[in-house]
Amino acid sequence: MDTSRLTVTDHRTGKQYELPIENGTIRAIDLRQIKTDAEDFGLMTYDPGFTNTAACKSRVSYIDGDRGILRYRGYPIEELAEHSDYLETAYLIVHGELPNRRQRDEWEQEITHHTMVHENIKKFVDGYHYDAHPMGMLVSTVAALSTFYRGAKSVRDAAARRRQTLRLIAKMPTLAAFAYRHSMGWPYVNPDNELSFTGNFLNMMFKMTELKYKPNPVLERALDVLFILHADHEQNCSTNAMRSVGSSLADPYVATAAAAAALYGPLHGGANEAVLRMLEQIGSVDNVPAHIKRVKAGDVRLMGFGHRIYKNYDPRARIIKKIAEQVFEVTGRNRLLDIALELERIALEDDFFVSRKLYPNVDFYSGIIYQAMAIPIDMFPVMFAIPRTVGWLAQWEEMLLDTDQKIARPRQIYLGPDQRSYVPLTKR
Ligand code: CMC
Repeated sequence: MDTSRLTVTDHRTGKQYELPIENGTIRAIDLRQIKTDAEDFGLMTYDPGFTNTAACKSRVSYIDGDRGILRYRGYPIEELAEHSDYLETAYLIVHGELPNRRQRDEWEQEITHHTMVHENIKKFVDGYHYDAHPMGMLVSTVAALSTFYRGAKSVRDAAARRRQTLRLIAKMPTLAAFAYRHSMGWPYVNPDNELSFTGNFLNMMFKMTELKYKPNPVLERALDVLFILHADHEQNCSTNAMRSVGSSLADPYVATAAAAAALYGPLHGGANEAVLRMLEQIGSVDNVPAHIKRVKAGDVRLMGFGHRIYKNYDPRARIIKKIAEQVFEVTGRNRLLDIALELERIALEDDFFVSRKLYPNVDFYSGIIYQAMAIPIDMFPVMFAIPRTVGWLAQWEEMLLDTDQKIARPRQIYLGPDQRSYVPLTKR
């Protein structure tokens, strides 16, 4: 038997079709030769939410959802979280290989020297309402960067792509911190080139009147690990938005804005914010069983639980739990942790969650850590967007260089009315 081919028999006509199998996949376009009737242009697949459709070939990250495995460019997330730092991991994700010392120094130097933004950006941010959601501010200011870098439209030019990639990785923390400072009514803090990527982010967030901001090394490292964990996650909703918008050859600033907008939703990057609001609403460990009851009745979802791909413990959640302990030693214990632990304990024993393979995901604990670090709840999706930018950019580049790719344009099943004649207003 030829295992590289699928034989499909159309029982209505008796015709047989040979469909090649490559990488465990048949090409949807190969189904086109099968017609459902004489008029039909060819069989299609129906896959809302892309639950069983590979839209690209990728070499960036690998997930085995049943075994709870995540790797960037082949390296296990656990090893990167232990030995690497965010900027080195960002290099790996963008270039495919870990840098040598010289490459690493150059990369750090280049990113550090692109962290400043044009002064006019501050004027946009000033225009937002005092209680504007920082994710809304981030989405629109990153789109606005497109108007500053006209060369960004040259998406077929490798050197131009590299410049925008450096700028985007470097400037996202600056835009994020400006959004926060604006909401607090505090003056913006320019980047400090002597600090690490995450140390500088903390500086731009929290520096007050001191001449030099000194980040707490434990919190700086914890943030670095959190950024590593969020750097890429193959074809999720926001990455799909980045690839889809980028496939029209739009510039990477507006494509990143689209990806960030996709991330904003509570089922994706907005989940960390939703988890914290849920924990606050539950209020105490005693109220946990009542909340679980509501989840099981279908009234609410248990935020921070479940994943399209992971049907096992999210490996990122396991690492985050460890970081939480280190952070709490510095900041004091977040009282919401007890509620989260109790929710997890009950859920992992309950058949409702076990039978649906619902486990804590990366966002179940990240918010508790961010809150302990004095980062306000509505900044949480922004904290996700900063590191994920590198994944979006690597996937965007991969999409542009992939000769299989075309402008993203799904098909539909039309179920609307057949042709009918216009009825004048007086006759309706
Ligand atoms: N609480 C309660 N029930 C759930 C949950 C949940 N969090 N997640 C899934 N289910 C149930 C769902 O009701 C369905 O049950 P049934 O078969 O009886 O209808 C079953 O589990 C399958 O769920 P689904 O909605 O078909 O699964 P999906 O793959 O479409 O959704 C998900 C994945 C992440 C959107 C979903 O699990 C969810 O809404 N989780 C809460 C939000 C969340 O934490 N999102 C963060 C994801 S991780 C960070 C990121 O990468 O964005």
